[in-house]
Amino acid sequence: MFNFFKKAKSNTTSLFTPEKKGARPVFHDLRVLDIIRETSDCVSVAFEVPENLAADYQFIPGQYLTLETKINGEAVRRSYSLCSSPFDGELRVAIKEVEGGRFSTWANNELSAGDTMRVMTPDGNFTAVINPEASNNYVGFAAGSGITPVFSILKSVLENEPNSTFTLFYGNKTAGSVVFKEQIEALKNRYMNRLEVHHVLSREDQGTDYLKGRIDQDKCKTFAERFFDIKEVNGYFLCGPEAMINSVSEELKSMGVSKDLIHYELFTSPAQSIAGKTKVGKESTKKIDSQVTVILDGDETHFGLDSDGDCILDAALDAGADVPYACKGAVCCTCRAKVLEGEVEMEMNYALEDDEVEDGYVLTCQCHPRSEKVVISYDD
Ligand code: FES
Repeated sequence: MFNFFKKAKSNTTSLFTPEKKGARPVFHDLRVLDIIRETSDCVSVAFEVPENLAADYQFIPGQYLTLETKINGEAVRRSYSLCSSPFDGELRVAIKEVEGGRFSTWANNELSAGDTMRVMTPDGNFTAVINPEASNNYVGFAAGSGITPVFSILKSVLENEPNSTFTLFYGNKTAGSVVFKEQIEALKNRYMNRLEVHHVLSREDQGTDYLKGRIDQDKCKTFAERFFDIKEVNGYFLCGPEAMINSVSEELKSMGVSKDLIHYELFTSPAQSIAGKTKVGKESTKKIDSQVTVILDGDETHFGLDSDGDCILDAALDAGADVPYACKGAVCCTCRAKVLEGEVEMEMNYALEDDEVEDGYVLTCQCHPRSEKVVISYDD
């Protein structure tokens, strides 16, 4: 039934490359190879990658694609995580229909195999670099469609780190809304001693209190007492709504887990800040008229921008630069660029790692100039 869930064969194309992280994403037109209905409100969509673009679409487990299509004449752009493992030899995202979601509603109801759309090359920092020699224990916390990148990571670990284990806590409303349910069961049967899965359901009773409700701080504590030993875990992967990520990461940290081991990705733009992710850069209340230069593919675009005006990304788009973006909400990292000269302030940052910020990288959808001259490069 789920024939896309295939084991990588020696002659299949590996779409895995650890060096891909950080490369600037660009759009290409790709054809939809097939669409699988995963649940009543979720489809997975595979794209055909021409031979000449195979290198561009190599990815690391956990990364996402930004898709763009025209709906009623207007370009609509959204990011969706890859659910395939790079070792599967296919490029597949899962798209869950959300109420009022223009792109997700269109993809779930109107998109067909054979259609073509603009697909950005893979991007994202929520990743696991697979090492076949490693003997690691990983723990995943996912809620709803937050399973998508975790599923890619989980499959990659099971298939290519033969000495590693994965324990997954997966929250949903009901058993019927569990995305990839059969595939996860098949993996459990196949990797009996290396994969442990605990479904947590908010609207169905499974006979145990700790598996009923939402994944939160208390549940994380209970799971750590019953199912994993924090001293033995080499990495945590969290993906879902902000409340789950905040509560689980806070509980893990309070138990003594280093924040370096906690990797997370939000599925929506956050309503409030996550601990440790706040304003970055030089803060100023004084208005500055800045001259901004953005460099993209070696070409420079120059424009003036007030420090309390648009973000640098929007100003660059208005000035005619085809700079990359997806969420415009500090989450996806697609608009990442490096400050070569001057000072900027980021409103929010949920995507860049601390070392990237220290190296001068910023999210241009969140940036405002704080000096009279600013030079930013998307090429570095
Ligand atoms: S466009 Fe997504 S972080 Fe800026």
